Amino acid sequence: MNDKVHIPPELIPRETPTRWHLWFLGAFLLLAAMMYLFYVYPDSNIGPEQPIPFSHRLHAGVKAIDCRFCHSYVASGPRAGIPVMEKCFYCHEYIIPLHPEIEKERQFYESGNGVPWVRVYNVPDHVQFHHQPHISWAGLECTRCHGEVERMDRLKSVSFRMEFCIGCHREMNAQVDCWLACHH
Ligand code: HEC
Ligand code: HEC
Ligand code: HEC
Ligand code: HEC
Repeated sequence: MNDKVHIPPELIPRETPTRWHLWFLGAFLLLAAMMYLFYVYPDSNIGPEQPIPFSHRLHAGVKAIDCRFCHSYVASGPRAGIPVMEKCFYCHEYIIPLHPEIEKERQFYESGNGVPWVRVYNVPDHVQFHHQPHISWAGLECTRCHGEVERMDRLKSVSFRMEFCIGCHREMNAQVDCWLACHH
């Protein structure tokens, strides 16, 4: 009965366990890198924290509220304007009025000082930028200069440089003379 050939186990090649460990470690590192790219990296790339975590992604994206409802002067004046708080309460009188962030908003409102929003976009001091010709004459989309605001929770800080203005003016055959060359 005992006629099986005995082969010593060390002669049979096997995957060593360390190789599997390496695969596992590799997969884990890859996952960690992906989680970093998806969750941590975008956050390190966004703008300053605001006194109230107002989200453009939610309001202008998901709820599709028109930019101009809040930034009413964008087509008619130099500045787009930050909305007065009455605009927030146009909705938030009824929508989630007891949400802690809305209550905070109400405290700012009742203090009479408004929300101290942190500025995000800037041009150098000597440059005067007016929205009106860009919006109502040239018909440019907000995204051309501000990026996809409706997909951002917190807006990224951008300092516009002269090349940004001049590059587009050349491309679109808009004027590039004195007002850009001679600093105000
Ligand atoms: C046209 C209506 C409308 C206006 C105007 C509006 N919101 Fe909202 N807001 C909403 C809706 C809808 C939600 C989602 C409510 C929900 O989660 O059920 C929301 C949610 C929020 C939230 C909670 C977000 C969260 O994390 O859950 C905050 C904070 C907020 N809004 C702040 C503001 C501020 C500040 C303003 C003014 C600058 C404003 N909203 C103007 C409709 C509006
Ligand atoms: C419900 C009101 C609301 C809507 C709709 C809205 N915004 Fe805003 N926006 C704000 C508020 C409040 C701030 C100031 C807080 C901040 O910077 O997030 C702001 C800030 C900004 C700023 C930065 C201003 C700075 O500090 O330099 C830009 C640019 C802007 N919005 C563009 C847009 C565009 C483009 C859209 C449409 C896709 C839009 N917004 C829709 C309320 C709104
Ligand atoms: C041609 C480029 C350009 C376009 C298009 C543009 N913006 Fe701007 N925006 C700027 C620049 C540059 C600034 C900074 C101006 C400054 O600091 O004086 C700015 C600032 C802002 C601000 C904050 C300060 C302010 O003006 O009240 C808001 C809000 C804003 N833009 C909203 C909008 C919206 C909404 C649209 C689309 C309807 C839009 N912008 C289209 C270039 C642009
Ligand atoms: C994405 C393209 C684009 C960018 C970026 C841009 N512009 Fe313009 N700009 C235009 C166009 C197009 C016109 C011409 C509008 C018309 O007359 O129809 C114009 C017109 C102007 C005018 C003349 C308005 C008048 O009275 O004739 C000034 C001033 C101006 N831009 C300043 C700036 C400054 C400052 C910046 C940078 C902060 C800038 N622009 C960025 C496209 C752009």
